[in-house]
Amino acid sequence: MTAPLTVSVTGAAGNIGYALLFRLASGSCFGPDQPIKLRLLEIPPAMGALEGVVMELMDSAFPLVHSIDISDDANVAFAGCQRAFLVGSRPRTADMDRADLIKVNGPIFTGQGRALNDNAADDVRVIVVGNPCNTNALIAMHSAPDVPNERFTAMTRLDQNRAIGQICGKLGCQAADVSNMAIWGNHSNTMFPDYHHAQVNGRPLTEQVSEAWLQGEFLQTVATRGKAIINARGASSAASAASAAVDHMASWEMGTAAGEFTSMAVPSQGDYGVPEGLIYSFPVTISDGRYTLVPGLEHGAEAQAKIQATADELVAERDAVADLLG
Ligand code: NAD
Ligand code: LMR
Repeated sequence: MTAPLTVSVTGAAGNIGYALLFRLASGSCFGPDQPIKLRLLEIPPAMGALEGVVMELMDSAFPLVHSIDISDDANVAFAGCQRAFLVGSRPRTADMDRADLIKVNGPIFTGQGRALNDNAADDVRVIVVGNPCNTNALIAMHSAPDVPNERFTAMTRLDQNRAIGQICGKLGCQAADVSNMAIWGNHSNTMFPDYHHAQVNGRPLTEQVSEAWLQGEFLQTVATRGKAIINARGASSAASAASAAVDHMASWEMGTAAGEFTSMAVPSQGDYGVPEGLIYSFPVTISDGRYTLVPGLEHGAEAQAKIQATADELVAERDAVADLLG
């Protein structure tokens, strides 16, 4: 029998948590043969709501759920953690940019980074969803010196999925027809959805739609989709964010298909001129639980400027939280 995987989720009683937990429990992320032990973290005022979510998980009788533990103490929630979804944090409102959350959410990730450092299993892998997710992942990574840096990642898969959705809408194709639609940089309006290397049914996207649409409506829609959803729903994206978190961790687990890449925000080692140490979204291939940056992608001057601009923004975010980086 396969040993259960210990999966910790923070902000488990929140909107994303509510969508995420049932996907994890059903086997969508770690596969239909992988049992899981859920360890759920919330702040004290939300523990009552979390108890309700646990009742619903029990009432779903998921065969893969081995155990469920809840706590308002990160040291408890990360005990033996092998996969961590760091979701818990405040979402922005319509009048805010994601970076405006940095002062309120940043400090959460020092404590949680330390708790991961002290309590997680040796094979822990972390995805940060709470915004601003790249810089929050940076803070957590700095607070966990005993955990290898490459285990800290942030989520830009939602942006990749949004880009694919827009391409499907334009061409009338299916999501599975679109490959290599990578996001570069920050999960913010400065992100660069790199349509130049994307393919639809094995042919370059750029041969199938106009450059004007790609440079205009496409880039604008993908970059500002989070705000559009907040305006429409009165709350930030939740089910699609949970789905993207599942995709991110499932790709890390199962790998990417031959010849295909995906987007993950990971610690930069200086590739493509991105300053070392930033948590920056790159195209990656994944095999045996290890991701590798896609080497040698070529970019024109305009794309290079976008890759640089989103790195510059991450440098500014890093400077803004210098006091949290130890
Ligand atoms: P929510 O307010 O519905 O839920 C957040 C939960 O986190 C709440 O239950 C809250 O009690 C809990 N929480 C707050 N501080 C905590 C702490 N220190 N420890 C543990 N739990 C804590 O928000 P949501 O819609 O679930 O969004 C969560 C975060 O995800 C937000 O920051 C949002 O901006 C972000 N987000 C990121 C992406 C992305 O693509 N990276 C997409 C959507 C949302
Ligand atoms: C999103 O992209 O939907 C989230 O990051 C929420 C937000 O504030 O935009």
